[in-house]
Amino acid sequence: MSFTRRQILAGLSGLAVVGLGVGGGARYWLGRKEAPSGHDYELIAAPLDLELVPGHQTPAWAFGGAAPGMELRARQGEWLRVRFINKLAVPTTIHWHGIRLPLEMDGVPYVSQLPVLPGEHFDYRFRVPDAGSYWYHPHVNSSEQLGRGLVGPLIVEEREPTGFAHERTLSLKNWHVDEQGGFLPFSVPREAARNGTLGRLSTINGEANPILDLPAGQIVRLRLLNLDNTATYRLNLKGLGEARIYALDGNPVEPRPLGEDYWLGPGMRICLALRVPAAGEEIALRDGPVRLGTLRAVPAEGATVGWPAALPANPVAEPDLANAEKLNFNFEWVGTTPAAGETAAPSLWQINGVAWDINDKTCADRPIARLKQGKSYIFELKNMTQYQHPVHLHGMSFKVIASNRRKIIPYFTDTFLLGRNERAQVALVADNPGTWMFHCHVIDHMETGLMAAIEVA
Ligand code: C2O
Ligand code: CU
Ligand code: CU
Repeated sequence: MSFTRRQILAGLSGLAVVGLGVGGGARYWLGRKEAPSGHDYELIAAPLDLELVPGHQTPAWAFGGAAPGMELRARQGEWLRVRFINKLAVPTTIHWHGIRLPLEMDGVPYVSQLPVLPGEHFDYRFRVPDAGSYWYHPHVNSSEQLGRGLVGPLIVEEREPTGFAHERTLSLKNWHVDEQGGFLPFSVPREAARNGTLGRLSTINGEANPILDLPAGQIVRLRLLNLDNTATYRLNLKGLGEARIYALDGNPVEPRPLGEDYWLGPGMRICLALRVPAAGEEIALRDGPVRLGTLRAVPAEGATVGWPAALPANPVAEPDLANAEKLNFNFEWVGTTPAAGETAAPSLWQINGVAWDINDKTCADRPIARLKQGKSYIFELKNMTQYQHPVHLHGMSFKVIASNRRKIIPYFTDTFLLGRNERAQVALVADNPGTWMFHCHVIDHMETGLMAAIEVA
């Protein structure tokens, strides 16, 4: 197989889009106050049997007939309008991870909306202010719903061409399946009390150890998304070719070499520019020493181009550090190790002495912090546990400014991987009113206490 530019571009826009095409100039409706009626996507959640293990069926749940779900795309500054239809037998919602949007569109049950019942639909409509790699997933019964495959990429394209002629989205997920493709428990209390319950079959775009063809000699934008419940991937590339980091979790950074292992926690994303080696060469994409997939250089048309310039910054408000108020958030382990075989969702973790109860619909009525709209804050995140926690905030992006464990080049993100016993500082302008979830993205940590609400008013 060989690549032409037209195939790549067709690959980007050839999705099942209702109405106007993605990427066409006609979808610029900046300046309009209301989203035009209609929708860009009809997104159906439904059961889907997958062949993850050759010769066996896995009873997955899928968005848009795929797990990971169909890739949604929008252009920065425009509206994304998704009619979500629930054809599952259980209630659910969609949360748009990393997107700064109004609370009513955030997909948190009983905070943003009521769960979407089987057979019902819900219209999600919001503007996407920031370009980058994002994703979507339910916020209801998350261990099982994400575990069965309800996760998908959401790509927000820059307003102007970026200088990348080629790109690929690589969604990483580690399935909780056995050798016959049957699901294993998504959350086991003894594991939830430690690193979280790991799946056993790692995949890229739903395929175990795939070979992905890339155009030889070209620079390809690789969007790597960790859509897994639990796994932190220690990403590295082995082979010829050169990779540079262009964005972290949706936000551009000054391009720099990928270096050794990049720790991509659950929910996090990294955007690389990869200079693909000569045709016939292969690069292993690895998690530490373990190969996740193979990038294979295949003959391609087109002149070789240089490294694209840094991506344009997103319009995230710069926190006023000199006048910011400091707030402490301590992440603690409650200190009980459930016995083997214990099944009820135990309370294992807490933030500032409070454990979130996943079965109590009123938890969000008791925010652990109240922020004043428009004011700057520095959150001091203190991990008092032996495990790492990808700390995620809804509704706003924050700037990572310091850590006692590593050198930080400040950058904006929505998810920060807080290492064991690490103390880090992140800063933000509380510019989005609402009640926002603040949680660890290891799903069974979140469901056993490591979540809180932060109010901005
Ligand atoms: Cu991906 Cu509550 O988040
Ligand atoms: Cu989120
Ligand atoms: Cu955690």
